[in-house]
Amino acid sequence: MEEYTRDGLASRLGTRLIGRHLRWHDSLSSTNDLARNLAEIGVPEGTVIVAEEQTAGRGRHGRPWASPRGGIWLSVILHPGLAPADTPLVGLAASTATARAIRQTLGLLARLKWPNDVLIEGRKVAGILVEAGGDGLWVVAGIGINANIDQGALPDRPAYPATSLLAVTGRPVDRCELACALLRELEHRYEEVRSEAGRLGVLRRWREMADTLSRAVRVEASGRVLEGVATDIDDTGALLLRQRNGTVRRVVAGDLTVREV
Ligand code: BTN
Repeated sequence: MEEYTRDGLASRLGTRLIGRHLRWHDSLSSTNDLARNLAEIGVPEGTVIVAEEQTAGRGRHGRPWASPRGGIWLSVILHPGLAPADTPLVGLAASTATARAIRQTLGLLARLKWPNDVLIEGRKVAGILVEAGGDGLWVVAGIGINANIDQGALPDRPAYPATSLLAVTGRPVDRCELACALLRELEHRYEEVRSEAGRLGVLRRWREMADTLSRAVRVEASGRVLEGVATDIDDTGALLLRQRNGTVRRVVAGDLTVREV
């Protein structure tokens, strides 16, 4: 097993953009917080910030994200040049890259839950937090993978069960190999996001791995609960929800659960 260190990762990465500049920290409040500050002062695109642990890891909708040692917690600074409405595509690219990296290195059937959750056997193993700033100049993609984390250290939210790669496989995973595969995959998916034709590829790959399409779902969005069948995503990554009365509603952000019917 290659050591999960800055040099271990840098020596085998081989990417052109993503991770060409790597910042490695033993402990940070949140890699996204540091990435945002660095993006503001103009560090190069593709810079990756890794932390062994986060003391104030952040999830979507302002939730805390448990980030003890043993996980993969990193943020990538990007300059995608997208219209604000298209920024969610970066999240789709990052979640697709994460699921594909888990499949490649561990052979596990990772699937995707809208918008950006990576699931194994219906439990969340990884999440993505995308934040944009600088008047649309930069986007930070924060990626958290519960790699070598004991089940007991994961949050207990029955509606959104969590797992780790350690819990699924029963043994520690090679974080260096997995992080390498992740950043390489992200480089490819990010290249696609930046071209109009490539975007179709990102959407197609996301759909291929989606766990939640064609299913009855409930979405909590801006304090409202919406129910319907998740029919598809549109070309900005918004969820298309067919409601009971037949109308199709476009949902840009929210928390989705699959309804048992
Ligand atoms: C979610 O599913 O709610 C998103 C979780 C994102 C967690 C990652 S870990 C690295 C980066 N730094 C953070 O504080 N959050 C993201």
